[in-house]
Amino acid sequence: MKKSQETQEDSLQQESRYQLHQIFISKIFKSHRFFQALVLYSLLIGFGFGLGFILNVHIRNVSFNPQIFRLSTLSPSLSSSFSTPLQPQPEKVVSLEDTVVVATNDDDDEGQKGHSLVKPENVMHNMTEEELFLRASKIQEKTLKKTKKVAFMFLTRGKLPLAKLWERFFKGHEGLFSIYIHTSDPFYVDDDIPQTSPLYRRRIPSKEVGWGMVSMVEAERRLLANALLDAGNHRFVLLSESDIPLFNFSTIYSYLTNSQHSYVDVYDLPGPAGRGRYNRRMSPVINRRNWRKGSQWFEIDREVALAVVSDKTYFPVFKKHCLSNCYSDEHYLATLVHVMFPGKNANRSLTWTDWSRRGPHPRTYTRGSVTGEFLRRVRNRGQGCVYNGKKSENCYLFARKFDGGSLDKLLYFAHRVMGF
Ligand SMILES: *[C@@H]1O[C@H](CO)[C@@H](O)[C@H](O)[C@H]1NC(C)=O
Ligand SMILES: *[C@@H]1O[C@H](CO)[C@@H](O)[C@H](O)[C@H]1NC(C)=O
Ligand SMILES: *[C@@H]1O[C@H](CO)[C@@H](O)[C@H](O)[C@H]1NC(C)=O
Repeated sequence: MKKSQETQEDSLQQESRYQLHQIFISKIFKSHRFFQALVLYSLLIGFGFGLGFILNVHIRNVSFNPQIFRLSTLSPSLSSSFSTPLQPQPEKVVSLEDTVVVATNDDDDEGQKGHSLVKPENVMHNMTEEELFLRASKIQEKTLKKTKKVAFMFLTRGKLPLAKLWERFFKGHEGLFSIYIHTSDPFYVDDDIPQTSPLYRRRIPSKEVGWGMVSMVEAERRLLANALLDAGNHRFVLLSESDIPLFNFSTIYSYLTNSQHSYVDVYDLPGPAGRGRYNRRMSPVINRRNWRKGSQWFEIDREVALAVVSDKTYFPVFKKHCLSNCYSDEHYLATLVHVMFPGKNANRSLTWTDWSRRGPHPRTYTRGSVTGEFLRRVRNRGQGCVYNGKKSENCYLFARKFDGGSLDKLLYFAHRVMGF
């Protein structure tokens, strides 16, 4: 509505301007002072050029505040009230060809281009889902980059309230990670994120997500497909907007890239909240014995990610038969990994979640509950965990859920406890 009105107004204005111009010119021609006017015109144009040049030089030297620019591009209601609307810049769209270059360019570690903080690469594209999944599943093992990157995939409702924490976490580790954001918010804009932030322009083409619905799994697969396009990504971790890291980047990076396992929570739960959600119609593709449950917050390697994106066996069955009160997001990956990769899964999640207060949602931590002692404690389960066949103190690398109000405290403890 607004858009079409604007363009209408625009063309009206243009028309009337054009008419004025016509009248003006004809008048000048009629007068004998035509040549005098010509001289005046030239002088004016020359003056305009000079002024423009001086202003240009000045503006370049002044370090301006990007906030001024944000105002004009952020709010559509603001900009539409201007007579000459400052439209938000259309997001740069990566064409198919660009994507192929990123995906298959195997000039080894040169592939870091565009991943630095200085010049962020836009991950938005206009591929259809079919093209995307086909492309993602076609990238061969031999084209993979030697420098392993970890793909941090954020599945969010909107903005990241803890963005500042994550920005600090990633700082100084450019080239070792990539970020992908799937947000169901159709009005998501990241113009208020500094261009130097690793979170800037990392939104992938996203769709609406319903809690506990199969659309949640679809979003996870979409994130994986987009992340697989970058042949540098070796490990893939799914996070939400309320997740925090529990260690510094180097610790988490080395834990993941040196691991022999994937981390998908897999267990068999008798009763209505587990086996009870199995639907007989899923047989024979998925039988009752193979039905598994687990937290959706996974960390997987490239082989498992590829299997999920290319899966045409299990996912269609889930889409058809895992509907109300089934919660695909808690069963799809657990079941798939249990069937396809039993040997290489650690069978546990790397994301700590507090389910101690029964109910469908885990506990959310607010500012008051964040202490250094608490953050240290949630890293292990008391008795520790097995990592690459050896006992390790660290069970969890991430934790949830934390609200935006706890940001200042998390930043404070990030330095003292988590080491970044
Ligand atoms: C994607 O956009 C490019 C131009 O940016 C265009 O040439 C191409 O046809 C588009 N592809 C699809 C599938 O829309
Ligand atoms: C990260 O933390 C570990 C210990 O937790 C520490 O040994 C290491 O120096 C830290 N790395 C950086 C880059 O600060
Ligand atoms: C995970 O569970 C599978 C069975 O689903 C088992 O074969 C495998 O050994 C377990 N992995 C570890 C690391 O314990």
